[in-house]
Amino acid sequence: MHTYLIAGGAGFIGSHLCKRLINQHKIICVDNFATGSRGNLSELIDNDRFELIDADICHLDKIHQLKTTPITHILNLACPASPDQYMQAPIATLMTSVQGSHSLLNLAKHHKSKYIFFSTSEVYGDADSLPTTEKYLGQTDTLSDRACYIEGKRSAETLTHLFRHKFQIPTTVLRVFNTYGPNMQTTDGRVVSNFIMAALQESPLRIDGDGHQTRSFCYIDDLIDAIELILDKPDFGPFNVGASRQTTINELATKIKTLCLSSSPLINQPTRAHDPKKRQPCTESFKAATGWSPTIDLDEGLNKTIQYFKGLS
Ligand SMILES: NC(=O)c1ccc[n+]([C@@H]2O[C@H](COP(=O)([O-])OP(=O)(O)OC[C@H]3O[C@@H](n4cnc5c(N)ncnc54)[C@H](O)[C@@H]3O)[C@@H](O)[C@H]2O)c1
Repeated sequence: MHTYLIAGGAGFIGSHLCKRLINQHKIICVDNFATGSRGNLSELIDNDRFELIDADICHLDKIHQLKTTPITHILNLACPASPDQYMQAPIATLMTSVQGSHSLLNLAKHHKSKYIFFSTSEVYGDADSLPTTEKYLGQTDTLSDRACYIEGKRSAETLTHLFRHKFQIPTTVLRVFNTYGPNMQTTDGRVVSNFIMAALQESPLRIDGDGHQTRSFCYIDDLIDAIELILDKPDFGPFNVGASRQTTINELATKIKTLCLSSSPLINQPTRAHDPKKRQPCTESFKAATGWSPTIDLDEGLNKTIQYFKGLS
């Protein structure tokens, strides 16, 4: 049995990871509930192998127990991931990625833990090379509205790399592409949850711009399978993880409307600033390291997600 510290464990992806790993391991979940919820952890809270620490990862120094309990793995998912949420708290978002990563990397150094940093496809900016490989260096702007998230993640990748080389900590960087599924918040402004909620409420599905922009949507169970496969691998990466199929936002809206049996209208609204036009990962490096490829198609994943959102009302 290992002991995992899951930072951001009360969030969408983190809560699924906690649920998967608790079957065989001890979990210490550290979360400040900036964007996560206790509801996501309701199945775990009474489990003897689960411990919840309500704390900001930027300020872990005074939590003595984190130094004294041996920790084998540290998974750093702590950071708001929805643009609406991170743009509302830009300084806290940047500091979470930089100062928070520094504090968790120091903990990994102390325990000689395996450390996995959850980066993002956003480090590529509006990529003009598709499918995007990890070698693509990115087109980003240090002063954009999204820079608090993007430049924070880029700096945290660098910090992870520096700790690996200076202190020989086994580290991995995963660049996660759009992922969706149960435990997303209903009001976090992400496209899948937005469209499903609107369709279920018979409200308009609001499409940014002309809707021809694409994303690649990966169902959460596929992502959790991917993470499990890399947990004990020595490779640094960085690795792209996500679904390879591109879907236009128009196609997504139409699909969700049909699957929800909704009569909501589709409405176009102005494009958001710095919204990437296309997203499609090349996942060949990750596949070579782990053998992983996603298995759940968009209709199946959306149906499961719709059932979850229906159950909330
Ligand atoms: N969901 C996606 O499609 C996606 C895509 C790319 C990257 N990611 C990355 O994966 C990670 C998880 O994303 P998610 O979708 O689960 O987001 P989320 O917002 O649901 O979860 C983030 C969690 O981190 C916690 N948190 C934020 N700041 C913190 C701090 N300073 N200290 C402690 N806890 C803090 C939040 O309360 C929340 O529980 C993020 O790092 C995100 O950048 C997600």
